[in-house]
Amino acid sequence: MHLGALILAAGEGTRMRSRLPKVLHPLAGKPLLSHVIDTARSISPDEITIVFGHGGEAVLSELAAGDLDWVEQRERLGTGHAVIQALPLLQKADQVLILYGDVPLISGSTLVSLLSCLHSSDLALLTVDLPDPSGYGRIVRDRNDRISRIVEQKDANERELEISEINTGIMAVNRVRLEGWLSRVDNNNAQKEYYLTDIIALAVTDGVNIQAVHPNAEEEVMGVNDRKQLAHLERYYQRQQADLLMQSGATLADPARLDIRGRLTTGRDVFIDCNVIVEGEASLADGVSIGPNVLLKNTTIGQDTQVLANSVVEDAEIGSECRIGPFARIRPETRIADRVHIGNYVEIKKSLVANGSKINHLSYIGDSSIGEDVNIGAGTITCNYDGANKYRTIIGDRAFIGSDTQLVAPVKVGEGATIGAGSTIIKDVPAEQLTLSRSKQVSIKGWERPVKKPKQ
Ligand code: UD1
Ligand code: CA
Repeated sequence: MHLGALILAAGEGTRMRSRLPKVLHPLAGKPLLSHVIDTARSISPDEITIVFGHGGEAVLSELAAGDLDWVEQRERLGTGHAVIQALPLLQKADQVLILYGDVPLISGSTLVSLLSCLHSSDLALLTVDLPDPSGYGRIVRDRNDRISRIVEQKDANERELEISEINTGIMAVNRVRLEGWLSRVDNNNAQKEYYLTDIIALAVTDGVNIQAVHPNAEEEVMGVNDRKQLAHLERYYQRQQADLLMQSGATLADPARLDIRGRLTTGRDVFIDCNVIVEGEASLADGVSIGPNVLLKNTTIGQDTQVLANSVVEDAEIGSECRIGPFARIRPETRIADRVHIGNYVEIKKSLVANGSKINHLSYIGDSSIGEDVNIGAGTITCNYDGANKYRTIIGDRAFIGSDTQLVAPVKVGEGATIGAGSTIIKDVPAEQLTLSRSKQVSIKGWERPVKKPKQ
């Protein structure tokens, strides 16, 4: 069997009121269409074809990939017309699965049950009962409860409008049959469109026993037409992510106030406070605690480390038993080993901090390599940039850097060295010695403070 997945994405998305094509709007940080593509990939079809329309070049340039074929639908003449555009590309397929670029949360398991119906039928539909079916095509069944056709809202009579079972649009169909039926579909209807849904009545005429499958949740088949619907699906999706984390042993202070725009994996007894945002891939080992208002992007954090309130960690690796923040900023290409303390208003970029070192207050550490058990005093700055190039600072094990030191890179500080507070270090510092660079302290006798001149 050769399975072709077909994704219709030629809609204009006018109700989004956006310059961005609708299917590129992000849900959980990922374009709507990418959700559908990834779910299609998860069931391993032999090919994936996407029908794009107006403004589709932007979609193509953002999402093009080796396993995707693209077809343009120049005129938007209906869902049936859209499928016809793709048929020449689906010549090898025995079965076609039809999906929609703006129905992002369809699940792989629902698609698998839909496809399994094709063992015994040539057409299977995904339908759902909705308390408010308005706007959707209705599933019309005969006296024996067999599906006989689909009637669009705009073509339905009053009795048909009462039907609560609706067409989600998602279907699996035998490819040869699909082609035959579509060649017989006309646009003789309220919208003057070629309706894909008209193939249902044709299949019934041909004696096909149409199967219907229901999704596990309504949200799986909800489309995004406006930003309100997008927000609804975003919340639903986030709640699902939160539930999965809690199942795997994480405590969430408030499951409604965690946003995962990517993937988060957690060990046991992880605690996540309110308003945490995760982007890209993050993993938190056992016992990690994340404080409120923390942003984690592409980060791994080792056992029992605490990230305190309002910290931002991006493209970094943090070891075990560390304390990061509050108000710390860890920037890309930083590796922090075990038992390290990074305190408030400390920024670290492209640096290595070895076991047991402490940078507790108000520092900038960039392009540096810091040894074990180093203590970096408050206000220490690595001057890594001369306006044109970046240079490295290397600090040996057990060094003690006094507060308010400027380390003008490239510079090396030897093991066990001590630097006096307020020093500007421009040359390498020897191991085990005290180094300081300061002007002498003077006191001026008899000096008087200026006083304010009287107003004229
Ligand atoms: C369609 C179904 C309806 C179903 C509903 C579910 C038809 C005739 N009707 O109605 O039974 O209840 O979806 O949401 O199929 N598209 C194209 N090219 C076109 C027209 C549409 O690619 O020429 C794509 C759109 O981008 C969209 C999807 O097909 O993703 C559905 O199109 P839309 O116009 O929203 O169909 P509905 O009228 O909602
Ligand atoms: Ca629609």
